[in-house]
Amino acid sequence: MIAHEAATPAAEHGAAPTEAAFRAVYGAAPAGIWAAPGRVNLIGEHTDYNDGFVMPLALPHTTIAAVTPRTDGVLRLHSGNAEGGIVELRIDTLRPAPDGDRPAPDGRWAAYPAGVVWAMREAGLPVGGADLHVDSTVPTGAGLSSSAALEVVTALALNDLYALGLTPQRLARLTQRAENAFVGVPCGIMDQTAAACCTAGHALFLDTRDLRSRQVPFDVAAQGLRLLVVDTRVKHELGDGAYAERRAGCERGARALGVPALRDVPHAQLADALATLPDTPDMPDTRALVRHIVTENHRVEEVVAHLDAGDIRAIGPLLTAGHASLRDDFAISCAELDLAVDTALAAGAVGARMTGGGFGGSAIVLVDEAAADTVSAAVTAAFAAAGHAAPRIFTAVPGPGARRLA
Ligand code: GLA
Repeated sequence: MIAHEAATPAAEHGAAPTEAAFRAVYGAAPAGIWAAPGRVNLIGEHTDYNDGFVMPLALPHTTIAAVTPRTDGVLRLHSGNAEGGIVELRIDTLRPAPDGDRPAPDGRWAAYPAGVVWAMREAGLPVGGADLHVDSTVPTGAGLSSSAALEVVTALALNDLYALGLTPQRLARLTQRAENAFVGVPCGIMDQTAAACCTAGHALFLDTRDLRSRQVPFDVAAQGLRLLVVDTRVKHELGDGAYAERRAGCERGARALGVPALRDVPHAQLADALATLPDTPDMPDTRALVRHIVTENHRVEEVVAHLDAGDIRAIGPLLTAGHASLRDDFAISCAELDLAVDTALAAGAVGARMTGGGFGGSAIVLVDEAAADTVSAAVTAAFAAAGHAAPRIFTAVPGPGARRLA
């Protein structure tokens, strides 16, 4: 049995099938075709809404959009991945409130592209209607940012079609606004920036305070290593309140410490900061949230230093320490993620951690090339023994960010 699958061939299906599907749905050729990737985050979890550091890389899995502008203010949305046919909306009636012309539950996916149109128009940008068809190979609910891929591919298409001239950073901010205010998920800026700004062969070292970033070479294969993604198939749902609760807890911590954001607490002053915090029965515990954010920002900086020194293997223990912090202090892991991480490490992985928002989704495992099959098989066997659904395991090779294909 093949315990893992190569991501690249299955991950990207190219522009032609999406162009053909657009023609079949709308009866004409699209004006253009664009792509935006899913992501995994190497390190820096839940730091993005604390003005901190993150380090995502783009997956070869992409969302591809074929789009044509319209002059009549109508927005037609169709997905090769969803049932329900064309969702048709009028752009001047798009509202984030439930009483607006928000897509019905059976067209929930359509809230993402519709939200992007809404956010652009709300920002005063001259965006009109469009016909859009999307196909995606980014797994949904797997913590791999399928939502951001859909938002960013829509924004990039509109940016080109309506000649808006926006930078990738501006597209990231607008798509985050769409997700926060229109879809109603209080996410940070990492996923949208990853989809917009990542480049092949690199991880993106991003300062979420000002969106300054640096492409850091991340060629694991050249060092005899491999980065596996273990999709636990436990669906995560960021809108369920636990994410918002963590976010509110971090803001409470920053207020109590008198800093604009937890990013402003230096790692060297963590003990003092924790001692300053009052004892209150907060759930989740504010001290533990602060400890995670401050140590996690420090881990990102340590990972960057190792990668700059050309030593990918050295980041393994930092990944594993990041998992312990997310599990014990931030309290957002789950049995399946812990099992994937513990089993991979016991089978010889160099490092492993959950990635993304938590409560399910995916883990990443850094492993010697020679041990990749053994580690994958051990994780698969452990899931079977525990009665969990079989995980989907694939190799992550950093792919390109959002781009025009045709
Ligand atoms: C989700 C959010 C991101 C980020 C991560 C956790 O993916 O969309 O903004 O907060 O969780 O690092």
